[in-house]
Amino acid sequence: AISLIVVIIISYLLGSISFSYLIAKKIKKVDIRQHGSGNAGATNTLRVLGIGPAILVLSLDIAKGIVAVWLGHWLAPDDGGVFPALAGFAAIAGHNWPIYFGFRGGKGVATTIGVLATLVFLPALYAGLIAIGSIFMTRYVSLGSILFVIGTPIFMIAFFDYPDAYTYLTLIIAVLLIWRHQTNIKRLVAGEESKIGQKNK
Ligand code: G3P
Repeated sequence: AISLIVVIIISYLLGSISFSYLIAKKIKKVDIRQHGSGNAGATNTLRVLGIGPAILVLSLDIAKGIVAVWLGHWLAPDDGGVFPALAGFAAIAGHNWPIYFGFRGGKGVATTIGVLATLVFLPALYAGLIAIGSIFMTRYVSLGSILFVIGTPIFMIAFFDYPDAYTYLTLIIAVLLIWRHQTNIKRLVAGEESKIGQKNK
């Protein structure tokens, strides 16, 4: 139990490293949360800083999810997936509510990609292809992000046999991510969501 608590705390602290915040501060001396959509994430980094920094943020935020899940696997390889699942969740929670940055972080998309791609690679890959396709067609990153977390559990439950801990985690992550996208969903419904590649503000 002690090691589980340690894994959760370390993963949360790792997830709390808000790379979009740090890189925007470094490059442009701005608080990313006061520009564009106000979200501390890769999509908003693309809006505020451009493609290079956005790819860097995306990669580093994905890496947080990967490392957290690895840590869980490494500490408890045969526990039915509970450690890696909770470690992944803790990293996403850290990204969304970072302890170092006043608990105002992102929506957890990139870190979720890292967690799901490590835990449930093929379902995440299939859902990811659908998400990427939808982003190319609509240019709405938020819509693609939502399709990704809806698609992953559908593929995983329909076609694969993963530990129950992974199934529950994937469903919880999906609910959390959709909930973090409330304002995006309202904008999507109203036809006011910003598209990538489009200049705004
Ligand atoms: O990266 C999260 C994405 O799904 C939406 O970000 O900045 O458009 O709210 P944003």
